[in-house]
Amino acid sequence: MSPKRSSPKPVGRAAAPVGRPSALLDTRIIYCGDCLDQLQKLPDGCVDLIYIDPPFNSNRNYEVFWGETREKRAFADRHASTQAYIEYMRPRCVELSRVLKKTGSFYYHCDWHADGYVRVMLDQILGENNFRSGIVWRRTNAKGLAFKGFPNNHDTVFYYTGPDGFTWNRQFTEYDPEYVAKFYRFIEEGTGRRYRLSDLTNPNPNRPNLTYEWKGHKRVWRWTKERMQEAHDKGIIHYSSTGLAAQKRYLDEMQGQPIDTVWDDIPPVQAQADERLGYPTQKPLALLDRIIKACSNPNDIILDAFCGCGTALVAAENLGRQWIGIDISPTACRVMAKRLRDVCKVREDEALWRTGKGFIVRDLPRSIEQLRAIPPFEFENWAVIALGGIPNKAQVGDMGIDGRIFPVAAAPKKRGAATGELDFMDHWYPIQVKQKDKAGRPDIDAFETAMERAERTKGFFVAFDYSADALTEIDRFFRKSGKVIVALTVREILEEEIARKLA
Ligand SMILES: C[S@@+](CC[C@H](N)C(=O)[O-])C[C@H]1O[C@@H](n2cnc3c(N)ncnc32)[C@H](O)[C@@H]1O
Repeated sequence: MSPKRSSPKPVGRAAAPVGRPSALLDTRIIYCGDCLDQLQKLPDGCVDLIYIDPPFNSNRNYEVFWGETREKRAFADRHASTQAYIEYMRPRCVELSRVLKKTGSFYYHCDWHADGYVRVMLDQILGENNFRSGIVWRRTNAKGLAFKGFPNNHDTVFYYTGPDGFTWNRQFTEYDPEYVAKFYRFIEEGTGRRYRLSDLTNPNPNRPNLTYEWKGHKRVWRWTKERMQEAHDKGIIHYSSTGLAAQKRYLDEMQGQPIDTVWDDIPPVQAQADERLGYPTQKPLALLDRIIKACSNPNDIILDAFCGCGTALVAAENLGRQWIGIDISPTACRVMAKRLRDVCKVREDEALWRTGKGFIVRDLPRSIEQLRAIPPFEFENWAVIALGGIPNKAQVGDMGIDGRIFPVAAAPKKRGAATGELDFMDHWYPIQVKQKDKAGRPDIDAFETAMERAERTKGFFVAFDYSADALTEIDRFFRKSGKVIVALTVREILEEEIARKLA
């Protein structure tokens, strides 16, 4: 499937413990890093199912892939940004294709911003004959009344498989209650079982051996008289008021409605949902459950190379599959590790992992010392990404802002032709990062000026620590202007405290 296959590069321990799916590959690992680099640690053709949900579902990417500009760009420029996105994703998808088994399945989750381009890219990499479907997932019911045009309320999930046969477990959903009420109208006395009627007369009139009288009705029947008697004795024949026989088809014996490519029965992660972690792009567990059940079997290996807060990993763990997660954001890696511990009750423990039970996180920048040592621009990027923000591309002239956080609630409300969707970019908080032992009052003063200039009411500051003066100034600024500066330390970011502070 891959245009370029390299030779296997086995990693990990020499011998696979009992119960492990492959001796060549370690599973139950979260790798922190760019998946382009991390995927190179995996051998060719080693995973059964890949799901990715790369970050291109909002205008955030517009900036990430285009670069920071002061002025808002016109709608027409989106094309250039989409090209940049595809160029970014192409080598990563080539690597993903390399690690996918020839019997494997591949899902790419995207939306209207780039779905056409993604499809063309995937056809080129995975082979257009291996395209199975483009699933439409209704992500929202937003009415979009202020928007001229049909609201874009769905995501597209492209589904490809390998060329050599693939796992397919048909999935069913419950019947619509209206459908049940209309068709399964009868309720059996005594048992309370709901059923519908199925005609017992034979469409072929020339069947003399099936032509007989039954309860006063002479017909060509589907069944022989003996079989009819048997069914009657079992009570699975319904008689109309005139005594005409029909077969009872019980609702509880039906598998349900076979699922097609339109998925409108899975709601997005709601504000009140138990599974909600506050991670802006979190996908519902039910969506990943369905994909994993349909295209894998227990102990198969599931890979999510852009795994965010780990929805695919949790679904895989719950369904008894092996899994590998990759994410570039250390915060995402910590959040998903916590989720696996809390929700799936698996322990993050190297010794246990060696026995095939726990899980581990690899390649996190773990220590404050490591972070002190990295170059300033990389440190800025680390801090901004760790907060779930988007770094400024420009290294100079950033006017005191190193990155932006787009709050969860930010969704395009106004989408007029005059302004385009870029209104979304107005909802953001600035981030300033200083790779300093103690950020001082002048650092805070400069950030306040930047916030005033950008007309922001809340901003995030990151340093190793703060001088007393700096903290007093943050307090004074709030009392004077009502504007909030959240002062975060590197230690807090490393220790997962951050998720709470960002909520
Ligand atoms: C849309 S989110 C995924 C959400 C996920 N499906 C969930 O339900 O939580 C995309 C993730 O991709 C990560 N990411 C972005 N670029 C990446 C890269 N080059 N390699 C690995 N992860 C990356 C981001 O940090 C982010 O967490």
